Amino acid sequence: MWYPFLVLLVLSSTIDVSNQDVIDNILMSLSKGITYFDMQGRNINLDGVVGYLILQAQLQEATRTWPHSDFPSLSQRAAAVSMLKRLNKSLSTAVSALQETDPKYFKEFEPILDSSFWSLPAEWSSTDPSLVYNSVRSMECYDEQLSDKCMTLLLGTWKDNGTPCIVTKSCRDTMTQFGCPHYSLSHQLLYFMIGTMKGCSRMLKGDLRLSRVNITVEHYKRIFCSNMMKSNQDIIKNAITGQMQDIFVENILLCGLVGFSDFYKLDWLQSILTWQDQEAGCFGKEDGCSSHMTGVAVSALGGFLNYYLSEQDITKRPLI
Ligand SMILES: *[C@@H]1O[C@H](CO)[C@@H](O)[C@H](O)[C@H]1NC(C)=O
Ligand SMILES: *[C@@H]1O[C@H](CO)[C@@H](O)[C@H](O)[C@H]1NC(C)=O
Repeated sequence: MWYPFLVLLVLSSTIDVSNQDVIDNILMSLSKGITYFDMQGRNINLDGVVGYLILQAQLQEATRTWPHSDFPSLSQRAAAVSMLKRLNKSLSTAVSALQETDPKYFKEFEPILDSSFWSLPAEWSSTDPSLVYNSVRSMECYDEQLSDKCMTLLLGTWKDNGTPCIVTKSCRDTMTQFGCPHYSLSHQLLYFMIGTMKGCSRMLKGDLRLSRVNITVEHYKRIFCSNMMKSNQDIIKNAITGQMQDIFVENILLCGLVGFSDFYKLDWLQSILTWQDQEAGCFGKEDGCSSHMTGVAVSALGGFLNYYLSEQDITKRPLI
């Protein structure tokens, strides 16, 4: 009766030790990423700043739920709290800089420029290989302009005091199209994430296509993330370069936020950590630092942090 329980305890303390090293590595990388933001915050574009806002949400959650057990863990938490303070300060500078440099774009995306917009997963699940498309287009399905437009219709920022949660037929058909690659795939997911976080409850209401009647928003998220998982597995198999690194990390960030914990693979984390410029603290060095990739990478690392903390917290693990 007691014996298996003891084995479990021994096992879990070994896991804790290695988890603590992993958490140390994540914290060290985040600290450098925040230093980069301190120095460059005024020059970072909206996408990059959104990444740091998601990191703010992740660090707030981490410091709130940090499993307080022993000394190393407590000192790690203290490091996270001091990083959050630094981040808070540079975020307010960066957000006001955005407002000055591009007031129109700022207004369109103002609702997502607040860390409280970004909700973190309440539970974990996994992607499903049976949902992978038989074939994927080689070209993107739509451009950034269309996805921006569809997102402002959800956010209600398409005009002053605009009605939120509007889904036009063209947005719906585009955002539910199967077989899209790369950014058009990840932005289909982002579109449904933004709708969910904005509280849009009837995004699929007008869809009269018979083959789609039973597909829910949650199911679309699972379809997209299962394909983003496949895409990441393909990317990591081949030599991974600039643009592909960016998509790879974006997929981890977005699907991790939706709660698909199979994206938080230790070897993927270790790869990402090696892509950071150890001096500048940024990511995407090929043509200098990429603010998009840096923002995406720090927020993905924030996701890894919360995932490994939840793994370490034995009280959150099922006992059997
Ligand atoms: C950081 O900012 C958030 C939101 O603005 C606030 O809730 C939090 O208390 C701040 N944390 C620290 C450590 O300053
Ligand atoms: C939708 O689901 C219902 C109940 O599960 C089922 O009876 C129906 O055949 C499904 N419709 C389609 C088009 O798949």
